[in-house]
Amino acid sequence: MFFSIMSGGSMHSGLVGLVCMAIASAICCSSVGSSSNIMCLESERHALLQFKQGFVDESNALASWKSEKDCCKWRGIACNNQTGHVTRLDFSFRYFNYTEVPLRGEISPSLLELQYLNYLDLSYNDFRGMIIPKFIGSLSQLKELRLGEANFSGPVPPQLGNLSNLHTLDLYGNEVVSFENLEWLSHLSSLRYLNMSYLDLSKVMNWPLSLSKLTLLTELQLSQCNLPNINLRSLSFINSSTSLQILHLSVNSLNSSIFYWIANVSSNFIHIDLSSNNLKGPIPDVFTSMLSLVTLDLSENQLEGGIPKGFQNLCSLESLTLWSNQLSENIEDSVKTLSCAENTLETLDLGANWFWGSWPDLKHFSKLRELYLDSNQVNGSLRESVGQLSSLETLILDGNSVSGVITEAHFLNLSRLQYLSLSGNRFSINLSSDWNPPFQLTTLYMSSCKVGPTFLKWILTQTNLTALYLSNAGLSGSLPNKFWDLFSRLSDLDLSMNQIHGKLPNLSSTSLSYVNLSSNLFYGALPSFSPMLQNLYLSNNRFSGPLSSFCATQAPNLEYLDISKNLLSGELPNCWMQFQELQVLNLGKNKLSGKIPSSLGNLQGIQVLRLHDNNFSGELPSLENCTRLLMVDLGNNNLSGKIPTWIGQSLPNLWTLRLRSNEFNGIIPFSLCSLAAIHVLDLSHNSISGGLPHCFNNITALADDSGVYSIIYGGIVELVWKGKEIEYGENLDRMRSIDISSNYLIGEIPPSIASMTELISLNLSRNKLTGKLPEDFGNMKMLESLDLSRNRMSGKIPRSFASLNFLSVLDLSRNNLSGRIPLGTQLQGFNASQYMGNLGLCGPPLTQSCPGDGTVQDDGIARGTEIDNKEQVSDGLNLGFFISAVLGFVIGFWMVCGSLLLKTSRRNAYFRFLDNANDWIYVKTKAKVRRTLQR
Ligand SMILES: *[C@@H]1O[C@H](CO)[C@@H](O)[C@H](O)[C@H]1NC(C)=O
Ligand SMILES: *[C@@H]1O[C@H](CO)[C@@H](O)[C@H](O)[C@H]1NC(C)=O
Ligand SMILES: *[C@@H]1O[C@H](CO)[C@@H](O)[C@H](O)[C@H]1NC(C)=O
Ligand SMILES: *[C@@H]1O[C@H](CO)[C@@H](O)[C@H](O)[C@H]1NC(C)=O
Ligand SMILES: *[C@@H]1O[C@H](CO)[C@@H](O)[C@H](O)[C@H]1NC(C)=O
Ligand SMILES: *[C@@H]1O[C@H](CO)[C@@H](O)[C@H](O)[C@H]1NC(C)=O
Repeated sequence: MFFSIMSGGSMHSGLVGLVCMAIASAICCSSVGSSSNIMCLESERHALLQFKQGFVDESNALASWKSEKDCCKWRGIACNNQTGHVTRLDFSFRYFNYTEVPLRGEISPSLLELQYLNYLDLSYNDFRGMIIPKFIGSLSQLKELRLGEANFSGPVPPQLGNLSNLHTLDLYGNEVVSFENLEWLSHLSSLRYLNMSYLDLSKVMNWPLSLSKLTLLTELQLSQCNLPNINLRSLSFINSSTSLQILHLSVNSLNSSIFYWIANVSSNFIHIDLSSNNLKGPIPDVFTSMLSLVTLDLSENQLEGGIPKGFQNLCSLESLTLWSNQLSENIEDSVKTLSCAENTLETLDLGANWFWGSWPDLKHFSKLRELYLDSNQVNGSLRESVGQLSSLETLILDGNSVSGVITEAHFLNLSRLQYLSLSGNRFSINLSSDWNPPFQLTTLYMSSCKVGPTFLKWILTQTNLTALYLSNAGLSGSLPNKFWDLFSRLSDLDLSMNQIHGKLPNLSSTSLSYVNLSSNLFYGALPSFSPMLQNLYLSNNRFSGPLSSFCATQAPNLEYLDISKNLLSGELPNCWMQFQELQVLNLGKNKLSGKIPSSLGNLQGIQVLRLHDNNFSGELPSLENCTRLLMVDLGNNNLSGKIPTWIGQSLPNLWTLRLRSNEFNGIIPFSLCSLAAIHVLDLSHNSISGGLPHCFNNITALADDSGVYSIIYGGIVELVWKGKEIEYGENLDRMRSIDISSNYLIGEIPPSIASMTELISLNLSRNKLTGKLPEDFGNMKMLESLDLSRNRMSGKIPRSFASLNFLSVLDLSRNNLSGRIPLGTQLQGFNASQYMGNLGLCGPPLTQSCPGDGTVQDDGIARGTEIDNKEQVSDGLNLGFFISAVLGFVIGFWMVCGSLLLKTSRRNAYFRFLDNANDWIYVKTKAKVRRTLQR
């Protein structure tokens, strides 16, 4: 998800390119067909009409092809003004008019009649997956062939290699796959422009060789082609072409060997884009000899080190984009290295790296329009000279440690500034209340800057804002008068984590699309919102009353709705049909009651449904058509009835099912075993009876460790640990847990339970389970928490328990177990109370010795871990443990058996999640910043 957002940048510039090209060709084509006295030839006219017959022209784009006799005057046609031969056929109608329906159809071979055609453009039509016709290779006069985004598929016919006059070939964006080689391409010796972006070239191992024959090529576009890496040995075949100037190889998985190819192929590059590849190590010196380089984009790779000293030679550089790498250098040195580009550099994007040192002096970069230094480690104070950069439109500094006082001098000449992001730094702000800024911003990010307690007056002058982010800015009191009228253009508003109070007015005539007012003191009834609304976060406020007023919001694109942790009451209205795009609905922790309305079942795109901690009652409506559900959290309500069988049958992606603390009854349906993706299953504290299903071996998500790290979930889930709720964010991804405690389960624990080898937590306590523990229980080798207490299980603890190496929480108390507790460092490490109430158990850590034993040794090992475990188990076990359990475990574990090997990768995964819980929120915010900037 993040990936696609972050790569939005290149997509965006691509679009701009398209629009520009579209305008260019519109201008160019408007003169087509005019001012010619020569009529077109009858044979060619006939051929064109036949060609037209192959198409369905829904928008009547070819109307002029009927009414006009002279085909040279038809739309999209141009003729040679001496011979009358058709030379140009431009069918790319959608290209410059998105309002028209693309032409659908087939390409008639009558086209061959047009032997003088030198321009053929069929882009942006819909050829329904047909193969590019071979006969196009016989239009020998063709100089320009454009077939981009026209829904062709299959291999490119090698006959295209016969077009020896071709100088432009655009096949971009078709489903053309399975090229085995590009041999045909090497015959196009006149080619200057080649675009095969978005084609699958993964099998073309020899692509550098084929391209090496194209000695006149100046522009090469191969973005997102799955290009195979360069085989360095084959590089010896490559002749250096000196013509190549423009190279786009973004979004492939190329490794650093591509640098050698680039170094060999040309030194005349002007534009190079290698973003979103797999480039590692330092930025190589290959660029430093490219004296004409104007733009260089190496963003979203894993490059390290600094900007090479050789960049001192690059005196034409206008744009340097190194966003999202691992570059680490004193930023002042980096900026010095770029000093030759002082008079040319317009865009400098060093965001999301590890640049450090004091704020650099940029005052000589007089053309600088865009400066991104976000998410680095720059400190020191912001130099006032930044206020001299009079061309600056974009200044993005969020997520550094820049300190000092921000004054009016910092913005002195920034009259063109539109995008300003200062979030998450350490400065204090000293802008006088009657300051009249020289700029009119459209985007302002000052989250985590101490802006409050009241709104700075100068912000109120920025009435052109479309995005305002003032989260955690120390604001209190109510919003300024007329706030909503003043900022009437706002589309994004984030005022979360302040102390703002007051009611919300009717917002239905605003343009708000992203609204985050969570964690404030807003109260009163929910208003209705703008039809543009996509994301609404109002959690943790004091909104009250029924939700019905919200139903007046006619927002067909609403995707995220979170009003959890408020005081909403009454029944849930039945208006959900109007939010067909809803993906996340969180109304947890309110006072809602009554039945859950059936219209929720119409939300086919919903992924997260959380109505937990309310007073809902009655049975669940059918959600069988909500097949994309990842999370259903209805815990802590008064829902009743049986657990529906459709849950297992219709929700193949379900990953968390939380029905705890309700009044569900009946048996566990067999179909729950079909929940192939389930990670957290919590049915505890209900009135479920019957036995455990014997099909646990079907729950594959609990049996293999293939990650689901990419899953989108709807924020944070609270799980209970020691009576407290712990909030799980991204770390929930690693959780695999089953909790069916406090029900009326009877019968044995089925042996198939042992196939859930990835399960981390199992709680079956407080039921009426009987029989023996399965022999190979120890196969659940990842178990860290196991609670089987307060059942009626008998027999011995199986020997395999000793191999539960990660177990840090165990409770087997109050059963009828007997025999010796198996010897294993973990099992002896627990407090005796975890085995209490099993009259037949003996051996350490119990003081009761087994028949035939001597006295139990009270050794240091047991004492050591007892201390650590005491706290963890003192007040009974609940589902969830994770953070404290893992920490407690690691300490205890290393004290007991520090020599055992841990599965380090998994451990690291836990700690990464702990460390990064905040980073994650940060990254999300940053992606958001980027996205709004690039709109
Ligand atoms: C004929 O076409 C040529 C090349 O396209 C152009 O230079 C010339 O001006 C045209 N002549 C007339 C009379 O339109
Ligand atoms: C685009 O389509 C609209 C509606 O069909 C039409 O009015 C307009 O003239 C077209 N523009 C061009 C450049 O063809
Ligand atoms: C491409 O053609 C296929 C086959 O006819 C069709 O199903 C698909 O919708 C088309 N794709 C586009 C984007 O028009
Ligand atoms: C407001 O922003 C728009 C573009 O979003 C711009 O065209 C317009 O000039 C701006 N108005 C002022 C007063 O700066
Ligand atoms: C689910 O969709 C099917 C087919 O559209 C429909 O017949 C059925 O009534 C729907 N079920 C529910 C509970 O909405
Ligand atoms: C369990 O898996 C087997 C084989 O994959 C399948 O035939 C059976 O229907 C599944 N049982 C359930 C209850 O999902």
